[in-house]
Amino acid sequence: MRTDLPWREGRSGAVGGPLRPSAPESYETVEGGLAPWDTWRSHEALQQPNYPDESALKDVTALLRQQPPLVFAGEVDDLRAELAAAGRGEAFVLTGGDCAETFREATADHLRRKIQTLLQMAVVLTYGASMPVVKIGRIAGQYAKPRSADMETRDGVTLPSYRGDAVNSVEFTKEARIPDPQRLVDTYHHAASTLNLIRAFTKGGYADLRLVHHWNRGFTANPAYARYESLAAEIHRAVKFMEAAGADFDSLRSVDLYSSHEALLLEYESAMTRIDSRSGQAYNTSGHFLWVGERTRNLDGAHIELLSSVRNPVGVKLGPTTSVNEMLSLMDRLNPQGEEGRLTFITRMGAERIREVLPPLLEAAKADGRPVTWTTDPMHGNTITSSTGYKTRRFETIMDEVRGFFDAHYSVGTVPGGIHVELTGDDVTEVIGGAEELDDDSLRQRYETVVDPRLNHQQSLEMAFQVAELLR
Ligand code: TRP
Ligand code: MN
Repeated sequence: MRTDLPWREGRSGAVGGPLRPSAPESYETVEGGLAPWDTWRSHEALQQPNYPDESALKDVTALLRQQPPLVFAGEVDDLRAELAAAGRGEAFVLTGGDCAETFREATADHLRRKIQTLLQMAVVLTYGASMPVVKIGRIAGQYAKPRSADMETRDGVTLPSYRGDAVNSVEFTKEARIPDPQRLVDTYHHAASTLNLIRAFTKGGYADLRLVHHWNRGFTANPAYARYESLAAEIHRAVKFMEAAGADFDSLRSVDLYSSHEALLLEYESAMTRIDSRSGQAYNTSGHFLWVGERTRNLDGAHIELLSSVRNPVGVKLGPTTSVNEMLSLMDRLNPQGEEGRLTFITRMGAERIREVLPPLLEAAKADGRPVTWTTDPMHGNTITSSTGYKTRRFETIMDEVRGFFDAHYSVGTVPGGIHVELTGDDVTEVIGGAEELDDDSLRQRYETVVDPRLNHQQSLEMAFQVAELLR
């Protein structure tokens, strides 16, 4: 077995700590009995599936506890350091990917297009920010969804709601909707093969800055995007200059792309947690970055307890009704010592309210002094129903929330650290607006998401150009 694993080479960007030794860590699992990170079991657990067969679930989690980790402690530590830099304003976070990944779309083509889109956005943002971009996918594990109702009724038939491919199937039949613990094993394997592809794409020459820039040339050649031409031309000159000067280093050829998902399914997340033998600390090895959503971030709940017991950098979504006290208590629970990079708040306020509700939270965090990395999720506060009956979002409203996020931070003197968006690399029609002016009718053409509407490939790049303009 090789010990010089390529993804352990350390970061290629300018931020973060020293290179680590390249031998993979070893991990201990806890046989029988309760693990130190099992404390969540005595807390209220919202949004969990009702598995009809408890013993099948036990078999599955026992199996998962024996599987190799999907991500490694050294990588997780690297990401924490990069998020710390973003919190200080020395890097910018780009998080993007599906609302809900599906097993069906875990194919090489879909994943490649998604990774391509993220990399293309990253080039534009790196130039715009003149800073390293921390690249994180909602990928390789984003298979579980919280739902507003346990049951769904269609034409008089009531069945359990779809909770993501990790739990049940989206198809509206009795069999498909019964939560099946075997799907947790499938989740593990899909995440593993997705990560394998990510590691190949990001380290194998495919992520070469010059190649990614070349793809972006294709985008700006489209007359619809003429307004981005001058920024694109600047980037082009910078790349040409680098080439002319003979600048050619390893970091131009590879990137670190981290994985993240909502830590929703407590049994899965805790079965994937391991003690890192080097530090003796617990790491959730199912993804580098884990977040908890608006619906499950109750202070005394099992999800916050779960995140409080692992070393990974963690995130919490904050909606428009978040109080200062709640926010400070989340800091107490998740980052009592005020470690940089440990805690990211992902705000999802809605474009209409962000300028009013975000500043008081920023003021309070600033007064508290413990560091927070702030990112904006401009998607979830801006969901509407189109006149044609589709759940959608308007590109211009999404961008308005991003601008409101920057305005709020600049007015308070805190750092707008990044964006967190739902996107796909495919040419779907789920979000209206953008330079291609998708309208209510065009939603019919290619609406494929199983949960929330995503930016398509072009809209994602357009967002990157607009955010780059904001960052200059
Ligand atoms: N390694 C650097 C980085 O990750 C530069 C880089 C190489 C890059 N390929 C890239 C940046 C693709 C963005 C996209 O920032
Ligand atoms: Mn969503």
